[in-house]
Amino acid sequence: MHITVIGTGYVGLVAGAGLADFGMQVICVDKDGGKITGLREGRIPFYEPGLKELVERNVACGRLSFSTELAPAVEQSLAVFIGVGTPSDGQGGVDLSAVEAVALELADTIADYKVIVTKSTVPVGTNRWIKAIIDDRKRNPVEVDIVSNPEFLREGSAVEDFMRPNRVVLGSDSQKALAIVKDIYRPLYLIETPFVITGIETAEMIKYASNAFLATKISFINEVANLCEEVGADVHMVAKAMGLDKRIGPKFLHPGPGFGGSCFPKDTEAFVRLGREYNSPVRIVEAVMEVNESQKSRMVGKITGLLGGEVSGSKIAVLGLSFKPNTSDIRESPAITVVRELLARGAEVASYDPEAMEEFARLFGSDVVDYASNPYEAAEGAHAVAIVTEWNEFRNLDLARIKKGMAEPFALADLRNVYDPATVRALGFRYDSVGRP
Ligand SMILES: NC(=O)c1ccc[n+]([C@@H]2O[C@H](COP(=O)([O-])OP(=O)(O)OC[C@H]3O[C@@H](n4cnc5c(N)ncnc54)[C@H](O)[C@@H]3O)[C@@H](O)[C@H]2O)c1
Repeated sequence: MHITVIGTGYVGLVAGAGLADFGMQVICVDKDGGKITGLREGRIPFYEPGLKELVERNVACGRLSFSTELAPAVEQSLAVFIGVGTPSDGQGGVDLSAVEAVALELADTIADYKVIVTKSTVPVGTNRWIKAIIDDRKRNPVEVDIVSNPEFLREGSAVEDFMRPNRVVLGSDSQKALAIVKDIYRPLYLIETPFVITGIETAEMIKYASNAFLATKISFINEVANLCEEVGADVHMVAKAMGLDKRIGPKFLHPGPGFGGSCFPKDTEAFVRLGREYNSPVRIVEAVMEVNESQKSRMVGKITGLLGGEVSGSKIAVLGLSFKPNTSDIRESPAITVVRELLARGAEVASYDPEAMEEFARLFGSDVVDYASNPYEAAEGAHAVAIVTEWNEFRNLDLARIKKGMAEPFALADLRNVYDPATVRALGFRYDSVGRP
């Protein structure tokens, strides 16, 4: 079967390469000519473990190709997957302009039956809106069906998540379209992946409710951590014991500097907006967002607190810039808030991240923040080191070597609770972490 995937970002490129690996004939289309040229030359536009190999393998056997031209790709395809970005519009809503542009282009192009499969995260009602745009504007009198197929992959393990998802959600009114998409995902049936077949609005809702719930777990444990600090309890033991309760589960109960990334912040925001629009507010999620913002700022307080409340003129080494390990994505990363606030207070900031420094330099400029080639170089002359993202290589740092290069008071703000407080203090660090006595 021939498939077009529109958008070659984290979702589109992983889905395109993954579907090719399932045996489909896939053309990935993006309007960004630079990305497509790079992909044709074997360059992956972002860091995602295993993706390069997956793309190379499927390009080599002729199942995966890249183009900027939508029309010829769609002409050959029975199914068209939409994976374009749906960022925040900056006013609490979702910017659907890329989705709209795709719908209009499809209306111009489609000449025979197509199934449009929406992978982009879109507010409830958007899939019907996409179909209405195509039906109203289509040049040819052809039938089009729409399937909402929200994506749940996690950056950093996107390939594995796509190839072995916890579940596949398909929402549609059309049995014919559902049969085609089920056929595309047949390899997942074979590994007994649960399929949830439902209506369009329900499928759209599942994505937002899932992300809002995961974000809720994070904000919940962060507030518990903050309270633990006050009462002298250890949040790790609290989370561990909570997680052993099967009704709660251990995942997403790790305290830290607050959630970031390209999904949770904008998806919680959009969910809150949806609730308000329908006069059915999701007050828990409103609180989740509020807690998350204050958690990020609280982390700056920890760093300044270690330096006696004043950071002006101090050098601070920030380790980890991506919003989580194993990705180069810095969208809404807590490191952005931390660095921005430290700079505003007159600190000098050096940084190191295994994959995200190029992205970070694009945002902050390379003269405002220093970019080191390893953690030890970043810590050279620093009064404080802050671990903001828990890349594996920060878990076993030679702390004695780090300290040797640092200046007094040798502060370590471990915002991901990577180290044992007693061990670090015994080395002569002034140490703080999240939610531990
Ligand atoms: N990143 C994730 O972890 C993740 C997980 C689940 C769902 N999602 C959702 O998937 C969608 C895509 O996210 P992403 O992170 O892959 O985005 P992204 O920004 O990495 O990529 C989007 C791509 O779409 C392209 N594009 C935009 N308009 C286009 C057009 N008219 N024609 C062709 N290409 C166009 C862009 O050039 C870009 O390459 C979003 O709705 C997001 O919420 C993302």
